[in-house]
Amino acid sequence: MFGILKNKKIIISAGASGIGWATAKVCLSKGATVFISDIDKKFLKKVKKNPLNNKRLFSYECDASNENDVKNLFKQISKKTKKIDALINNVGIAGPTGTIEKLKSKDWEETLKVNVISHFYYSKLAIPMLKKNKGGSIINLSSGAGIMGFPLRSPYAASKWAVVGVTKTLALELGKFKIRVNAICPGTIKGDRMVRVIRDKAKFLKISKKTIEKEFLSMASMGNWIYEDDIGKMCSFLISDDSARISGQIIGVDGNAIRLD
Ligand SMILES: NC(=O)c1ccc[n+]([C@@H]2O[C@H](COP(=O)([O-])OP(=O)(O)OC[C@H]3O[C@@H](n4cnc5c(N)ncnc54)[C@H](O)[C@@H]3O)[C@@H](O)[C@H]2O)c1
Repeated sequence: MFGILKNKKIIISAGASGIGWATAKVCLSKGATVFISDIDKKFLKKVKKNPLNNKRLFSYECDASNENDVKNLFKQISKKTKKIDALINNVGIAGPTGTIEKLKSKDWEETLKVNVISHFYYSKLAIPMLKKNKGGSIINLSSGAGIMGFPLRSPYAASKWAVVGVTKTLALELGKFKIRVNAICPGTIKGDRMVRVIRDKAKFLKISKKTIEKEFLSMASMGNWIYEDDIGKMCSFLISDDSARISGQIIGVDGNAIRLD
């Protein structure tokens, strides 16, 4: 399948670790040129040292929730290319865990800023580059929490439902420009993020991490972990010409998640 993304230029927010980095690797392996940005210097340093760091991979420091940072990022990318084929709005933090009376306004606001408003900053600047390309694909990372309620994670759920709303709206606005817009809802991903989520929930409920992990896995009918690569492969499909007629869809990559609690 090498070549399915040949000559495609892709921007990924929060791309230096987790799902973003796994997706960057999948896209690179299929021939794309990838521009990743991330807030974390340590992860970016690791990416720079990776043997994949060649003429098709560019990495930049950027806080996705800071509009000036994002403007500066696009200025730097536009020195390399005026057109892009895809934007992956991957950035999203877990936000705080707790009942609503216990959560702080500052944490609510930060979750919405990083998970939703950052997508606006990136999309606003990426859309003209997609129009110049005469079409392309925007992929927004939502979650099972963007289609179901998620106890103890109200700001996260609010942010991920918002991502679904923006996806549906942009798909309508941009269809005439041949720009497709879809959202992916990952399930329980094996990785550092779920280690932290399970730790915080176990602490709040005062039960063991093993019990919480088991509960998470039982929430999908397939009952197993989802891998970061699974999301990368779906992104690659949604960028490729094989998905030319797919837009406005909210796609679960979750082993059939049936509840979230
Ligand atoms: N991991 C899961 O189980 C899971 C499940 C459903 C949805 N998602 C969604 O998938 C996306 C990626 O998740 P992940 O698990 O890879 O995340 P993660 O927590 O592993 O973080 C990935 C990257 O985000 C970067 N980042 C954090 N804040 C940033 C900011 N303000 N600006 C720029 N970069 C920033 C981090 O430095 C890190 O490199 C998110 O939108 C997340 O909500 C994840």
